[in-house]
Amino acid sequence: MNLYDSNRILDLTKKINYTLTENLKEADCYILNTCHIREKATEKVYHDIGRVKKAFRNKLKPIVIVVGCVAQAEGEEIKKRNNAVDLILGPQNFQNLASALQKTRTKNIYTDFLCDDKFDSLPPSSTPEVSKLITVQEGCDKFCSFCVVPYTRGSEYSRKVENIFQEAQHLVSQGAKELTLLGQNVSSFKSNIFEKGEKVDVGLASLCNIISKLDGLERIRYLTSHPKDIDDLLINEHFENEKMMPFLHLPIQSGSDKILKKMNRNHTQKDYVELIKKIRNKIRNIAFSSDFIVGYPGESEKNFEETLELIEKVNFASSYSFKYSPRPGTQSSIKHIDIVDEKTSTLRLKKIQSVLNTQQKEFNESFLSKNVKVLFTTFGKKKDQYVGRTPHLQPVHVTSNENIIGRTFDVKLENLTSFSFHGKILN
Ligand code: 5AD
Ligand code: SF4
Repeated sequence: MNLYDSNRILDLTKKINYTLTENLKEADCYILNTCHIREKATEKVYHDIGRVKKAFRNKLKPIVIVVGCVAQAEGEEIKKRNNAVDLILGPQNFQNLASALQKTRTKNIYTDFLCDDKFDSLPPSSTPEVSKLITVQEGCDKFCSFCVVPYTRGSEYSRKVENIFQEAQHLVSQGAKELTLLGQNVSSFKSNIFEKGEKVDVGLASLCNIISKLDGLERIRYLTSHPKDIDDLLINEHFENEKMMPFLHLPIQSGSDKILKKMNRNHTQKDYVELIKKIRNKIRNIAFSSDFIVGYPGESEKNFEETLELIEKVNFASSYSFKYSPRPGTQSSIKHIDIVDEKTSTLRLKKIQSVLNTQQKEFNESFLSKNVKVLFTTFGKKKDQYVGRTPHLQPVHVTSNENIIGRTFDVKLENLTSFSFHGKILN
């Protein structure tokens, strides 16, 4: 979502005649979009402010703006520690950026939760791309005990269907062939429309269905879902709608029921495995990815083994795994008990990543020599090289003497290097 927000910030600044520069020293304005999810990401913000300060040591001070979840959570602290920072905007306040840039430099902090306001005042996207992100929902009411999202992004908010449709229509008219619907808790999307004067509820499944009616749009994805919210309507939409890609990111965090309970996840390992089975029974070619946290307070060796067992049971196509990071204000950070030591967490992370990488490799290897539909999205690094994605999000490189960006071809997957394929276009 930070990537989506950064692109919208770029749209806003373009409107008032700013352009993007890759040269740090040349900039008149620095905007740091920040992430608070783990401590490392937050530390990076203070480090980057220092880097920015160095870049303008010998010239007129540029404008420095900190946006995003660290701005939301640590606005006062940033202001106290850094007199170089002019403006601090929480993730629901970056629509103020253009007007603030045009005004004199006042030291301000904006951290109200004003979702409606934000989306209404953003200009249309000005960066055409084949694969685009689109925020449809923000915030979270789940309050997993380790997670800052409910505090930094606020409570759940779903955008209006008309507004999402309009934005999607605009992106498709600019050449988008794939849309990824974003939300911290996208599967809890809840809005409505009026049909023949009647108010009709719209959940994620209906939203995907409405968006899939756009001519020219080929692929729909969504991210990130909570296992509790995946309903039969959504599974059915995958089954009936060929624009729904057969790939689902479904974080479980841990395979241990004891830890899942402590995490306030509201489901057990069995619930998760049964959900996966149910989805696979209906959609044969669907693949799953997940998020895992190791070293959550109280995680014993046995609990960690239970996570490894869960991974063996499910077989993931790819996954993300992290060491537990205590975040200010969250339930798990307040208690400070049963802390797992750093060395143990590091060992567990290595182990889980090795198992997950092996599964990803095996998943990819099962596609070698197969013909797969690839949507080409960007240029590769080499001459005449193009990069696209399979329905399961695997990157594929091909050579073509014609520009094929935005087109879908049957490709024979010939080689696999690390996690990406080289292939040959068939038609
Ligand atoms: N420590 C480690 N990982 C975390 N995540 C969220 N909060 C924390 C934390 N405090 C991970 C979860 C989530 C992903 C986006 O980030 O796995 O699904
Ligand atoms: Fe955080 Fe996701 Fe849990 Fe919400 S559901 S609190 S975003 S981990």
